[in-house]
Amino acid sequence: MSKKFYITTPIYYVNAHPHIGHAYTTIACDTIARRHRMLGDDTWFLTGTDEHGQKIERAAQAAGKTPQQFTDEISAEFRALWERMGLTHDDFIRTTSERHRQGVQALWRKIRDNGYIYKGTYTGQYCVSDELYVDAVGPGAPCPDCGRPTETVHEENYYFKLSAFQDQLIRLYTEQPDFIRPETRRNEVLSFVRGGLRDLSISRSTFSWGIPVPDDPKHVVYVWLDALANYITALGYGSSDPSKFDKYWPADVHMIGKEIVRFHCVYWPAFLLAAGLPLPKGITAHGWLLFEESKMSKSRGNIVRAETIVDVLGTDALRYFLLREVVFGQDGSFSFDALVQRYNSDLANGLGNLASRTLTMITRYFKGEVPYPSHAAHTPSDAAIADAARKVIADYGTLFDQYQFSRALETAWGLVSAVDKYIVENEPWSLGDKQDEESRSRLATVLYTSAEALRIVTALAHPVMPDATAKIWAQMGLGDIGKFDLTQLQWGQLHLGTKLGEVQAVFPRADKSVVERMQKMEEQSGGTGVPPATIAGGETGASPVQPSAARQPAAGTPPPAAAAKPAATIPDGKISIDDFAKVELRVAQVKTAERVKGTDKLLRLEVDLGTEVRQLVAGIAEAYEPETLIGRKIVIVANLAPRKLRGLESNGMIVAASPEGGKPVLASFLEDVPVGTRLK
Ligand code: MSP
Repeated sequence: MSKKFYITTPIYYVNAHPHIGHAYTTIACDTIARRHRMLGDDTWFLTGTDEHGQKIERAAQAAGKTPQQFTDEISAEFRALWERMGLTHDDFIRTTSERHRQGVQALWRKIRDNGYIYKGTYTGQYCVSDELYVDAVGPGAPCPDCGRPTETVHEENYYFKLSAFQDQLIRLYTEQPDFIRPETRRNEVLSFVRGGLRDLSISRSTFSWGIPVPDDPKHVVYVWLDALANYITALGYGSSDPSKFDKYWPADVHMIGKEIVRFHCVYWPAFLLAAGLPLPKGITAHGWLLFEESKMSKSRGNIVRAETIVDVLGTDALRYFLLREVVFGQDGSFSFDALVQRYNSDLANGLGNLASRTLTMITRYFKGEVPYPSHAAHTPSDAAIADAARKVIADYGTLFDQYQFSRALETAWGLVSAVDKYIVENEPWSLGDKQDEESRSRLATVLYTSAEALRIVTALAHPVMPDATAKIWAQMGLGDIGKFDLTQLQWGQLHLGTKLGEVQAVFPRADKSVVERMQKMEEQSGGTGVPPATIAGGETGASPVQPSAARQPAAGTPPPAAAAKPAATIPDGKISIDDFAKVELRVAQVKTAERVKGTDKLLRLEVDLGTEVRQLVAGIAEAYEPETLIGRKIVIVANLAPRKLRGLESNGMIVAASPEGGKPVLASFLEDVPVGTRLK
């Protein structure tokens, strides 16, 4: 029997136009949904737009439109973009829709009738941008989360008894460690909740752009309660037809960006518990796409639109890049150079080249029919490819199910490289020149082996690159890849005599002008707002960033290895400024510090980076007492891949001088420096 699988994206605010940050989450979910469908699961994939609240009301005002007009337009932009990119969501929910209003009011009534809503008065600082009361004192005091000025609000509000759920939530995170992934986010949430939960104001009466509170329409429902409820209202919760809700709820995964973890992992489960509803099975938070070192966002004016990349390189290139280049869960940088470099090395020279050379040779030497892999003509190198492919099928599935997309793709592309090498070593073109039986048999075996490996990579990569893989599949004469049952993927199923279709290049090589074209398109759209020289590298001359050859694939079609060589102009033993720029050094402030049990050397620290709190494990316990570090500003390598020390994940490294034979001394500053500042 098929399993059900329900996956959601956050619903996006309509105060900004869609950009690749939004596309990132939606693409990840689309890829996961596609894989589940290929595995035969009864899959439901939901996305939508978040349209209420003061922030949207003000954005509409600034645009000289009514909130409804404004939200209609921007919501339509999101829908149109997703359609253009071929995303396969099953539903698109808008919080201004009638079905959502009904569902939210039903949820409110349920929570109220269960005794978890009461009325009270409140005076405090409100952050309009975060739509949240915050701990800040005095008119205009900055929001501790985003730094924007807060507003003093005096309101009679409805409150949700969040404090009643503290113990249940702690139990949930402890008993179900996979409820929040990755582990760093879980730890943050756990310490937040352990710090104590205050009741939450869940209505507003200072503006009206929202869903009226049942039986008290002077108030509108707090935008986060309104928004979070989308995950159930879209399934028909509170409507006359709850059949989808009965079938798909609880969600298998809510996919979100790391900045909205608290809302999803604390408030949402508490609301559901209060309503007596089942909890989602898991919440997964990914990192941010950065552009020029900071989070891509409308307010920073550093966004990149997906349309530009889709127009120039195609949706598949963007999908592959985002999932391969960024380690899911961590922040990752976007640049046009990196995109084009990845495209050329992995797609044009990698999968595309493997497909075209293998299929062209089958066309040329075997009249376009998959040849028979003669047993007599087998060598250990054929068996090695078959074994590698079997391992890839297993490993790819495991990694993918853990949402380790980058590693899954790396594994599959390892097979592409292995087959490339295998082809070069076996020289099918030389075998093809010979007419003796032995050479023909050997040629048949080499081409069968290559084609079968190509089929396996194509099937595995289909959820990531639906269009290109559908084309390769059709060129292989295998029909509609959408009908392929992924549970049946095994080595050796490529049928002999399969008649190939017409062979065409799937990923034409991109030259340097492609980067410039995309940059121009973005400048004209008012997107990135960054002068081209700072992001181009290469030929733009005035660039303060020294271009490196690794980012500049040469013209023609060099083998991937050649394209990835370091620049010849950098003397031995030196690094380029680009290399240095890869190391993200930032100022962090120590929030907590404690000894790691069972070691003399290690301390576990939680440090504030301005945008997030991280756990680090550092070997400085012999030099510093934990208490003396609290509040101290230190320097950390912020983009070091996480690693585990004594079972604890360390997300970064403290920078310290390490005198020979002496104790480490932490790097610090004479002047005060804001938390999060980057060292360059
Ligand atoms: N409306 C709320 C979410 C409510 S869900 C019940 C919201 N909207 S948002 O428009 O700000 O979208 C936030 C989400 O968009 C992030 O959580 C993430 O999924 C995605 N991203 C937006 N910018 C992003 C980056 N620069 N990088 C990665 N993801 C980004 O918050």
